[in-house]
Amino acid sequence: MATPVDPAEFFDPLNPVHVADPDEFMKASRKGCPVAKVSEHLYTANTDDVVRSVFDDTKRFSNRGNFSVGAEDVRFPFTVVTMADPPDHTVLRSRLLKSMAAARLRKLTPEVENIVRDAVGALPASGRVDLYADYVHFIPSAVLYALIGIPKAKWREVQTWSDAVVRVIPEPAHELPEFAALMGFLAKCVEERRAHPGDRHEDVLDNLCWADPGEVEMPALEVVCHIFQLVVAATDTTRALIANCVYRLLEERDRWEAVVADRSLLPNAIEESLRVDSPAQFMVRTAVEDVTLAECPVPAGKKVYLNIQSANHDENRWGEDSRTFRIDRPGATAHLAFGRGIHACIGAPLARIEARSAIGALMDAFPGMRLAPDAAWVKCGGAITRRVESVPVWLNGEQARSARQATRRR
Ligand code: HEM
Repeated sequence: MATPVDPAEFFDPLNPVHVADPDEFMKASRKGCPVAKVSEHLYTANTDDVVRSVFDDTKRFSNRGNFSVGAEDVRFPFTVVTMADPPDHTVLRSRLLKSMAAARLRKLTPEVENIVRDAVGALPASGRVDLYADYVHFIPSAVLYALIGIPKAKWREVQTWSDAVVRVIPEPAHELPEFAALMGFLAKCVEERRAHPGDRHEDVLDNLCWADPGEVEMPALEVVCHIFQLVVAATDTTRALIANCVYRLLEERDRWEAVVADRSLLPNAIEESLRVDSPAQFMVRTAVEDVTLAECPVPAGKKVYLNIQSANHDENRWGEDSRTFRIDRPGATAHLAFGRGIHACIGAPLARIEARSAIGALMDAFPGMRLAPDAAWVKCGGAITRRVESVPVWLNGEQARSARQATRRR
């Protein structure tokens, strides 16, 4: 029998109240209902062991319908990698990896550092800023556009369209004017590349526009769909990682100071951020046959909400302090924030490079930075992304102290 859900207690991804502040509901689910039926179509999997096992089980679970928590699936004119199953997935992923293998992504490091340097340079020397809007926001999209091969002069414009689109995902975006603008622009990029066969580049556009022997020639619309999927996968997630990690470091001053003094602690702090505040909260799989998960029967055709965030807070996996951010947490990389198995995140090495560069540069420029006294952890809207809404800081420690004293006097 499917375990009955008490909506007042167990996590329900269809309940906006739970989505806005999910941690206590997820904890209740881990303790009392690891797998639960929450609607006619949807089951949740909330513990590390179950989420891990479904990620690994590509025979009994399909990626079609990924991201959709309702009856209707998000539809693309061509199947994109994150919604494909083998053997199509294997072919598509290998094609993408030609321009996105870890070694190729690492080669982007100088470009990432340039983008970060410009972003730090655009901040004032001191005073109050919102690090999310004024610093973090542009970095991941600029890096992605460099990887894709979008001309630099168009980056700002493309970002306004892609932000409007990413904001509504996983709801359908195709009726937005920005969606049409983005798709039209990408189609033009494909056309321009294909008009100049002698002009080759080491980027995603080049890879998808030109087939090597044995590869399929992709129609322009298919190239556009794969690039669109990258825009959705790479921007908000990486922004969330950088913003969340800076917030958690500044939230407890000792953490920030420890990492400023010893930068070798930064990579583990980034992994801990991915675990405690997982930027992609969930993925969705569809059962292709009747299965039983943690004693809960899931009939063929039903969807399973893989609760990445809850798995990453699982006390059985991470101990009783699982929701505490510890820069020295042992084994922090074992989180599921980048998924696992054949669909594990292709962009993970790039997201890590960006986070190290963006946070390291802030520490170099503003070691005395402090959270503004009125800063609060508020999760941004939207079901998929877990990101702090804003990161108000005083860039200079002295100013931060006087602002705090003024707040206390009030
Ligand atoms: C902190 C940042 C990021 C997080 C948390 C994240 C998270 C994830 C997760 C959980 C998956 C697994 C999807 C599934 O199992 O259905 C995934 C897949 C993917 N990610 Fe990321 N991602 C991040 C950044 C990026 C970046 C920067 C890129 C591209 C430059 C990227 C490209 C992809 C692609 C193409 C896939 C699909 C792989 C496949 O289906 O085989 N991601 N990501």
